[in-house]
Amino acid sequence: MTIIENADLLKYNTFRLSAKARRLVIYDNVEELVDYLQGHREENLLPIGQGSNLLFTGDYSGTVLVSNMKNVWHDEDLWTAESGVVMDELIEQTILAGYGGLENLSHIPGVVGAAAVQNIGAYGVELKDTVEKVDALYVPEMKVVTLTKEDCRYGYRDSFFKHQKTGTFIVLSVSFRLSQHSELRLDYGHLKTEIEGEPTPLKVREAVVKIRRNKLPEVSEIGSAGSFFKNPFVSVEQFEKIRSQYPNVPSFEQSGMIKIPAAWMIEQCGWKGRQMGGAAVYENQPLVLVNRGCATSKDILALSEAIQKSVKEKFGVQIEPEVVFI
Ligand code: EPU
Repeated sequence: MTIIENADLLKYNTFRLSAKARRLVIYDNVEELVDYLQGHREENLLPIGQGSNLLFTGDYSGTVLVSNMKNVWHDEDLWTAESGVVMDELIEQTILAGYGGLENLSHIPGVVGAAAVQNIGAYGVELKDTVEKVDALYVPEMKVVTLTKEDCRYGYRDSFFKHQKTGTFIVLSVSFRLSQHSELRLDYGHLKTEIEGEPTPLKVREAVVKIRRNKLPEVSEIGSAGSFFKNPFVSVEQFEKIRSQYPNVPSFEQSGMIKIPAAWMIEQCGWKGRQMGGAAVYENQPLVLVNRGCATSKDILALSEAIQKSVKEKFGVQIEPEVVFI
């Protein structure tokens, strides 16, 4: 276990913003985590992964908890990975062992624990599609609980965990039901056209990595937190109103609601590639805000608010951040 007082969080957020935590605790197993928490009962706990979906708006006055639990095992097609395993490394490992199901989620930054809280999704697949159960530490009673997929109440970039006070549940491990004969999901965008010959989980993974490399900034090179906003859902009536003015508006029907890509609306508002202070709208995918190297959290907040305002004015739609503000 590593404990750092007054810790610099620069390495713990992919936006590469400077912020401090009163304390940072990196634990290697659940016993260490429990020991630490029993010895330090405190209110403000913030479990984070690699900070790939966070915006620190200032210093954090509590304790940031980082899992360094990295075991992976499987019992036939039930694969379990501990919270600190890098999601993309798990995906590669499962595919190389002949198991499909996670390939569409390739190259998404972050670790398993955060992925299960966030219900990461890409190219027509969400984490919840393969999650079987999540083991978590329920901090108020300091006991390990098992949540089924249903208990996790997954929705679009949403879960039960996101509605609890942070630090109430700390994800320890996630079990995925994978398959050696999984059905491939190739219906999103031009994924299919990127694959030559008979598709396999490995080919899907390679195609997804290629598409993401072209469209999205590498968090190792440019500070960002992936999509900054969620794609909004509007009613059919509101959609028809928008379409009467903008006949080319892209849309996806889902359970009676219409999803409009926020990227399209942001582009229509003229934001693509624009910069405010050190923060900018990424030129290849305007749903992503980036740190041009010298951004402060204030720059990013100002840019995001300006974008929200113009989308609201032009389309009457309120877009909400996907990134969690701390
Ligand atoms: N579009 C534009 N201009 C652009 C880019 C996109 O108008 O410059 C429009 C197009 O109509 C396009 C549509 O937006 O068809 C969708 O674009 P894309 O396929 O890139 O996906 P997205 O809806 O913008 C979502 C996820 C991504 C995920 C991709 C692929 C959210 C918030 N984002 O983006 O997830 O990789 O789909 O499945 O749902 C993330 O969550 O951090 C993330 C990157």
